[in-house]
Amino acid sequence: MTITRLILKNLKKCRKLFILFCLAFLLTCIILPLEGWIVSRLVGCFEIEDKMQALQNCLIIMQTIIAYYLLRALVNGFFASYIKEAFSHTFISYLIADIFASVHAHSVRYFDDEMSGRISTAVNGFARGLVSAFTNTCYMLVRPLCTLIVSFAIIAAFSPALSLSLLALNIPYFFAVYKVNRRFFTLSNDRTKAENKASGILVDSIANASLVKYSGSFFTEQLYFYKHLKQAYRLHAAQGKYQTFSRFAFHAADTVFLSVSILLILFFAKRDNIALDNLFYVYTTLSGMVLSIMLINNFSQFSASLFGSLKANFDIINLPPDISEKENAKTLHASKASITFQNVSFSYVKDRPVFQNLNLKIEPGQKIGLVGHSGSGKSTLVNLLLRSYDVTAGKILINHTDIRDLKLRSLHQNVAVVPQDTSLLNRSITENLRIANPKATTEQIRNAARLACIHDTIMKLLQGYDSVVGERGILLSGGERQRIAIARAILQNAPVLILDEATSALDSQSESLIEKALQNLIKDKTVIAVAHRLSTLHHMNRIIVLDNGKIAEDGSPAELLNRPDGIFRKLCQMQNNGYLTYGENQ
Ligand SMILES: Nc1ncnc2c1ncn2[C@@H]1O[C@H](COP(=O)(O)OP(=O)(O)OP(=O)(O)O)[C@@H](O)[C@H]1O
Ligand SMILES: [Mg+2]
Repeated sequence: MTITRLILKNLKKCRKLFILFCLAFLLTCIILPLEGWIVSRLVGCFEIEDKMQALQNCLIIMQTIIAYYLLRALVNGFFASYIKEAFSHTFISYLIADIFASVHAHSVRYFDDEMSGRISTAVNGFARGLVSAFTNTCYMLVRPLCTLIVSFAIIAAFSPALSLSLLALNIPYFFAVYKVNRRFFTLSNDRTKAENKASGILVDSIANASLVKYSGSFFTEQLYFYKHLKQAYRLHAAQGKYQTFSRFAFHAADTVFLSVSILLILFFAKRDNIALDNLFYVYTTLSGMVLSIMLINNFSQFSASLFGSLKANFDIINLPPDISEKENAKTLHASKASITFQNVSFSYVKDRPVFQNLNLKIEPGQKIGLVGHSGSGKSTLVNLLLRSYDVTAGKILINHTDIRDLKLRSLHQNVAVVPQDTSLLNRSITENLRIANPKATTEQIRNAARLACIHDTIMKLLQGYDSVVGERGILLSGGERQRIAIARAILQNAPVLILDEATSALDSQSESLIEKALQNLIKDKTVIAVAHRLSTLHHMNRIIVLDNGKIAEDGSPAELLNRPDGIFRKLCQMQNNGYLTYGENQ
């Protein structure tokens, strides 16, 4: 998507307001430059010899001037201001909502690669930049250009040669402006990139404030931040220096333009016998023309800087999503689901494959415990199923449909996840639970919370279900957050359930409380449970042991425990407690 396409797409959504705004704006563009011409007609009255006639003309012109000012107040005040506000706010809201959607359309890889601070600075900077670009294009470019065109047209009516000469004088002037401003664009683009980087470091560092504090690395962190901040300000200063120099150059150019224009006016006034009122108009218009040129000049400086930073921000937002949805993507309607990994190969980094030709078939309702050493590929397998990343080769099927043929939303609605580290939105508990099922009734929400053994804890909070949980759910303990995630999965009621160390943050009391709830939750579902603590896997009827991206063992827990040199058996033995608990539940 280009910036132009993004703007056009959102303009379409509020086209009526936009057309109204354009009409109102064009009206002001035509009306404003007429002031000088109407007022200068008064001067013509002094050339009329008949005093009565002169007075009559003067009165008519005065009435016209009053009518003109009234019309201008109406057009400028009502249309240009009121409609501009209505249009720009509507347009910007559509635009930001669209950017919000395109940021969220990115895959997990994008959020892994980009710092969230950099993304949010880019979204805000881009949206604010576009509002500013829009208003300034109207008032610093289009309107002064209209003023110039109308002025040249009026002058051309009584002296075409003078109009053409003044126009010709503008050409080298604007060429110089263009040359200077190209450098501005580059400077501004670099400055914005540096600012975004510094801002990303700031947010990243604050988000990890406790790590910085407890590791005693504050001074290193401060130096690191300062180094990037300094780079941003160095580029800022370079841009400022260039701006000061170019302003001085343009002021000098203004003086030359004005002086040569006056000489041209005097020359053509004599040669073309220009009447006094017209001559008066040309003089008054001259300062208006210089002002318009200055505005256009300022705009081109400003826009070179603005468009430089707009582009830098847009480049962050607009990276093509590496996970995309097919145009004819399907919706999955399933109450039971089978999962098949067919010759799946995948690598995060080229030539370092995590999986090569992995084959795995999980029947509907089967409960898989996924175990293996750290780095063996458990989370990667789950991430591939969620299409956080796409397979490099092969395919993953849910009920015989390639997950790449499904709508992403549909895939995610059908695969519920209880992650190891549950992060919550900084909103109320009800809102956090409703994310899984926006249509859930209060009663359904409470039932899910009861099943997840979190209802009593919620009721003890000051505002119960309306309590806000703080950033990433920081006001709740790890175990409480995890139980909220379980309640969320209960509400989602998807045929596939992924438990990623789902009970890792629960103490033994909560764990035994939640066991029944989990048992209810997983009853008819196809479950993949990733676990290090093998004691949490006793609901599973099949264990897959991953070793270096390969399926090393596959069988029922009892079968694997009986393999004399089996990895699963060894892992159970190593986790003494896990082994005992596991055994108890067999
Ligand atoms: N985003 C990433 N970019 C590059 N390599 C990655 C990324 N995530 C994981 N890896 C690598 O892929 C391999 C498999 O990682 P994965 O996270 O799937 O292991 P895991 O079995 O879940 O480990 P753990 O038990 O520690 O959670 C590892 O070698 C890891 O370093
Ligand atoms: Mg993992």
